[in-house]
Amino acid sequence: MKLNEYEVKHNAYLRENGAECTVILKKDGNFPLKGTGQIALYGSGARYTIKGGTGSGEVNSRFYVTVEEGLKNAGFAITSDRWLDGYDKVRAEAKQQFIKDIKAEAKEKHTQAVIICMGRSMAEPEYHLPIDGEGDTAIYVLSRISGEGSDREPVAGEILLSETEKRDILSCNAKYQNFMLVINSGGVVDLTPVKDVKNILILSQLGVETGDILADILLGKSSPSGKLTTTWSAWEEYPSMDEFGDKNETRYKEGIYVGYRYFDSVGKSPLYPFGYGLSYTDFCLEKDSVRLDGKRVTVIANIKNVGKYTGKEVLQVYLSSPEGKLDQPYQALAGFAKTKSLAPGQEQKLSVSFDLSDMASYDEASASYILEAGDYVLRVGNSSSDTTVYGVIRVEEEICCVKTRNVMGRPDFTDYKPAAGERKSSSLSAGEQEGTTVLDLAKDAIDSVCVNFNLTCEIDADVKKLSDDQLIKMNLGAFDPKGGMASMIGNAGFTVAGAAGQTFMEAKEYGIPSMVMADGPAGLRISREYAKDKNGMAHTLGASFPESMMDFLPKIAKLFIKQIGYKVKKTDTIENQYATAIPIGTAIAQSFNIDFAEKCGDIVGFEMELFGVHLWLAPALNIHRSIRCGRNFEYFSEDPVISGEFAAAITRGVQSHPGCGTTIKHYAANNQELNRTQNNSQASERTLREIYLKGFGIAVRKSQPKAVMTSYNLINGIHTSEHEGMINDVLKCEFGYKGIVMTDWVIANYATENGCIHPVAKAPNVIMAGGDLFMPGSKSDYEDVAAAMKEGKVTREQMMMNASRTARMARELVKGK
Ligand code: BGC
Repeated sequence: MKLNEYEVKHNAYLRENGAECTVILKKDGNFPLKGTGQIALYGSGARYTIKGGTGSGEVNSRFYVTVEEGLKNAGFAITSDRWLDGYDKVRAEAKQQFIKDIKAEAKEKHTQAVIICMGRSMAEPEYHLPIDGEGDTAIYVLSRISGEGSDREPVAGEILLSETEKRDILSCNAKYQNFMLVINSGGVVDLTPVKDVKNILILSQLGVETGDILADILLGKSSPSGKLTTTWSAWEEYPSMDEFGDKNETRYKEGIYVGYRYFDSVGKSPLYPFGYGLSYTDFCLEKDSVRLDGKRVTVIANIKNVGKYTGKEVLQVYLSSPEGKLDQPYQALAGFAKTKSLAPGQEQKLSVSFDLSDMASYDEASASYILEAGDYVLRVGNSSSDTTVYGVIRVEEEICCVKTRNVMGRPDFTDYKPAAGERKSSSLSAGEQEGTTVLDLAKDAIDSVCVNFNLTCEIDADVKKLSDDQLIKMNLGAFDPKGGMASMIGNAGFTVAGAAGQTFMEAKEYGIPSMVMADGPAGLRISREYAKDKNGMAHTLGASFPESMMDFLPKIAKLFIKQIGYKVKKTDTIENQYATAIPIGTAIAQSFNIDFAEKCGDIVGFEMELFGVHLWLAPALNIHRSIRCGRNFEYFSEDPVISGEFAAAITRGVQSHPGCGTTIKHYAANNQELNRTQNNSQASERTLREIYLKGFGIAVRKSQPKAVMTSYNLINGIHTSEHEGMINDVLKCEFGYKGIVMTDWVIANYATENGCIHPVAKAPNVIMAGGDLFMPGSKSDYEDVAAAMKEGKVTREQMMMNASRTARMARELVKGK
């Protein structure tokens, strides 16, 4: 296989740096191995390694390296073929049964199997295969896949381990002198039954080089240096009030106590805390100094490699805010930094800075972000459960940092807060007080900002010339006026095969080009092979329907898809597009390395330029509210600072390429897949702002993404895409967003399931809320808008404003290339 030069370069970079995303949970010192030799390989991910999840985040890369291939490439002799071949059979049989079950479920629910199967993953089956590979070294690769459209279940073989997995992992641990359990999952697996095995590594899902990266790690050619961005705990330890899985209403009753904010506040020790991760080597962390310049806090620490191997360490700074009228979590991450590669004995001074005002809390009563009077404790360490007090910032009087207005509506409950006896105090102990630096925040250090809600939009001179018909089309994604299946099969682009959509194509005479959008976040999702016709239009070859869903289609539907598939003409040329599968979002964030994330964005930006894509529908930064969300692998973390910083870094990487922009998504509180287009996330204004919107604010301020995608769900009764408060007040006026706003892919006349009480978002409402693009667009959306225009519900004025923003962005991006 001869790769293109850019593929070689991109793959090499990912292989060299991929270990940054991997997290050692347990070690006994027997790894790295001294060299290759015999190795026994077991587990579902050995041969069926997962490179990333399913759905719109699935990248059609040219190939990827499985663990089995990676070990062979490195020169290991695999001694467990009997097990691996046996598992092939077990898996094939289980899959047949899985398909049967889905079809039966569909029949019972009077729907299509293809609808039910979306994102559904097969739980690991139970089986008996011999653990008899020779040698004293073994690896067990436990994998899990999930994806868009379905959530994960706390059942055996999914979030929980199957009986077979428990038994086999424990017997490998007993049998082999050198044993490592490798987790090839994008989401959390409850590891309680195997927590005592000698070595555990979260490999995650690293895209094209997954197997080679593991081989390099085993041989010590590279060193894991990732940290958890989400708490890994026993299933039953997660907060029980975080309602999940209701078809209509999802009540975010846990309020701000998400992830480690909950565990730390109630003094519960999870199996593996947020921020946790070991290294082959060991580090010693020493306090250097704490400074306060105006509102800027800087923490400096010295990190020394005191072990035997080269490695990297992460410095994490948390802030405990004083409780006053607002309750506070025990601590919240304020900033982080990672060392360069440190050889044994080498040390490095690291500094982490942040503005105290960025850690202000939201007070609904005054509609403002405030710092209450009291002591703000700086805690520093290398995980949320291993921190030391470095200093205290004293705030004499309450400060209003930002005055805004409440726009998020109200849930039908009040937020949970830990009861007085339940809450772990964040005040300093007598011992901690001694010698702790106390820095007084100067009275005038923070200027109070009052948000200006006057939004203006200059109407573009060319947009004014558009007819009503053209203007409606400018407000929708480009669609085939004859109807067609395009948007149904997740491939609504015309000029780039496999692109998810594009903007109106017939306004070129007005100098308004069409922007092409393709999915992510684990690389650029486009077709590998396509036919280019003589007019330059691109046609995906084969079914553009995701392969994983083909099995669930009745024969007649398969035939239909084949028939509507493009028939190659003599005048066409057959072309390829090979995009690089990069690590999944969670893995990138686990690197805690902003430069690495920026480089991943740069890889994607390069390929966007190459294939003519203007907007990448990524990164995705929803919060890991519950470990059950089927799309968590696409998202970064349970923490908003991590989410925002990584979305910003990736955006900077992509947007360093002329004509390329990111689309940060899904704005916001889309934390469950069940009935995602009609689910109402109920949450308080404070919770939404401090946890679910904060990352978007960071990403906007630090990188100005070219586009934002609203989410499918409603928030407190209003669809995010129809939410003026979220789009205008918060995103534009408060965060200072300058780009365009599009909807998630609302399929025309989306079939409403039985028992849904909320509607699907509608194009006319979206347009009037200032949403620039209703995606992917269809004939029936067009008709809806035309009718609403006639009734006066949609104005030409508003459509011209939306179209002007789109036109300006299209000129900037398309001409920028
Ligand atoms: C997903 C988005 C994606 C879009 C376009 C939707 O179903 O939720 O994340 O970008 O499809 O494929």
